[in-house]
Amino acid sequence: MSPTQAPSASPIHVLSMGRLSPLFMPQLQAAFRIHVLTELTPEELAEVAPLVRGIAGSGESKVPADLMAQLPALELVSIMGVGYDGVDVAAAKAQQVMVTHTPNVLNDDVADLAIGLMLSASRQLPAADRYVRAGLWPAGAMPLARKMSGARLGIVGMGRIGQAIAQRALAFNMTVAYTARSGKPELPFAFVPSLLALAEASDFLVLITPGGAATRRLIDAPVLKALGPKGFLVNVARGSVVDELALIEALENGTIAGAGLDVFEDEPRVPDRLLALQKVVLTPHIGSATAATRQAMADLAFNNLAAHFAGQPVLTPVPECQP
Ligand code: 8YV
Repeated sequence: MSPTQAPSASPIHVLSMGRLSPLFMPQLQAAFRIHVLTELTPEELAEVAPLVRGIAGSGESKVPADLMAQLPALELVSIMGVGYDGVDVAAAKAQQVMVTHTPNVLNDDVADLAIGLMLSASRQLPAADRYVRAGLWPAGAMPLARKMSGARLGIVGMGRIGQAIAQRALAFNMTVAYTARSGKPELPFAFVPSLLALAEASDFLVLITPGGAATRRLIDAPVLKALGPKGFLVNVARGSVVDELALIEALENGTIAGAGLDVFEDEPRVPDRLLALQKVVLTPHIGSATAATRQAMADLAFNNLAAHFAGQPVLTPVPECQP
């Protein structure tokens, strides 16, 4: 569906949670009357609130119940992101508000980054780059690193992206096992109901679960201890899934070997103690950050709004809003 003007006479008022992606905002502004929440005074919000029929946000946006309650005409929350842990979906449903997200279009990028962080952490790629740039090579070779091929991969969360990571790991001759709310017998990978048992049996533990209350601090000190001094943790899910202080302590005292982290508890702030660690690879929440994928995410998030306001079914409702 091309980003055309919605067919209704009066403009459709949409509240964007902030200045969203430059691949998303122009489409929104071309089709809808956009109000940027972060640029509205409380009085201005109160004035437009009765008119707002849609909300547009990103995977990081917080859309709480009390905001939606101020919007009596609200019909749809469209998230440009696969994760929507910032949206109070229960409150939206109670208000007969549909919630959509952008699954599938980012599977490859997030899975690629997960493999990239596994390889970067185990082979110390950023440190190796720094070693050469610092002119240390003439003085001698870098310390030997850890082999990734043939190692044991444990995946926490076996949804679309988890499966894309597993597929890629097979190319590295890795043995793949996973844990999740329930097993998927159709998959050729071992389902391990216990997270602790999976951590114990893994050299690399990759997190790709949804964020939110159900997975908050799922990775804590006992799990890190089970992963062990030769184990690597990779997080491409949400910072909330890890007890970050426990992780910092485990890295500082050698409880685990290293980590690759794309998400953090209080983004975009990263604790100094993490910044100080060489055995950690840090990236600024770039899981889906390629031009092609962000364009696809923006188009899908826009098309969910356009379809709805054209009286058609949305394309990608969140699971909780699927009929
Ligand atoms: C963000 C993400 O949405 O899709 C998700 O859940 O975390 C990311 O892709 C991205 O930062 C776009 O806003």
